[in-house]
Amino acid sequence: MMLNPMSSPASLPRIHLLATGGTIAGAHTGGRSYAAATLTAEALVAAVPQLAGLARITTEQVAGIASQDMDEQVWRQLAARTQAALDEPAVTGAVITHGTDTMEETAYFLNLVLRTAKPVVLVGAMRPATAISADGPMNLYNAVAAAVHPAAAGRGVLVVANDEIHFAREIAKTNTTQLATFRSPNRGLAGLVNTGRVHWFGPAPRRHTAGSEFAAAPPGALPPVEIIHAHAGMGRTLIDAAVRAGAQGLVIAGVGNGNLAASALAAGREAVRAGVAVVRSSRTGGGVVERDIEVDDSAAGFIAAEELNPQKARVLLMLGLTRTRDPAALQALFTTY
Ligand code: SIN
Repeated sequence: MMLNPMSSPASLPRIHLLATGGTIAGAHTGGRSYAAATLTAEALVAAVPQLAGLARITTEQVAGIASQDMDEQVWRQLAARTQAALDEPAVTGAVITHGTDTMEETAYFLNLVLRTAKPVVLVGAMRPATAISADGPMNLYNAVAAAVHPAAAGRGVLVVANDEIHFAREIAKTNTTQLATFRSPNRGLAGLVNTGRVHWFGPAPRRHTAGSEFAAAPPGALPPVEIIHAHAGMGRTLIDAAVRAGAQGLVIAGVGNGNLAASALAAGREAVRAGVAVVRSSRTGGGVVERDIEVDDSAAGFIAAEELNPQKARVLLMLGLTRTRDPAALQALFTTY
């Protein structure tokens, strides 16, 4: 850990910033192209001198990657480093810089495995740091403001972007390039933050962080779980291939209410009989995938993802499979988290 407190009064809260890369740390390489994960944690903090009025910030570079390269190994390392920082009594909360592409998955993973009530805020940017009107500096300022807010604790892991505060469980990236890419389609925002002024809207939905059974011990190795995207004319090829390749769980990004074509359904039923957990989620981007509507989940041994989108359903299924393979017990996790 790099201890590098900014020259801020000792009375200010202490925030530990863990950097992982992403476009927020990106720089142009010529023309319109840019490379993510170019700037260090210290450089990101130094670019926003106003942070010195909010907090004493220590920094740590956990990774230097674009978030399309984020994986289970980095998640576990990030969780361990974040937990270590939060376990220090002098630390008020953590801010994690991250690429926006997979930020929702990392946020949800941390939401389930961190043993803390302290604020944890992920932040990214859609424009690289060298862009005209880069959004990273304001996002970072707002993230620290949210993390030091006296009412931030106990809300689980949060994401700040574009003046909005999202719950890890709710947020989804919905647009390839626009600043307003993040949405919380089902239960809405955790709050708003306008140049550091924070407005909270409500408590976190469902169990999280210190209240999560997965936070009792550091997460171990996670089993392979694949996501398969449903479509008109879907067959069984990819489901069969994933099972043959050793997947222990499958998340189907189903059409509509998590539906899939008859031959894919048959392949899913056979996968369950072979010991693979099969979760039905939806490719629609919102709503609840309910049990036993058009698909007889109870007969097939399927699990309904409820409100979790496919990428978050995968996170919960991986953690769940470290405990149980029983479809009923796995379904209970999707009703709890
Ligand atoms: C990434 O996710 O690392 C690239 C895109 C971004 O951060 O906005």
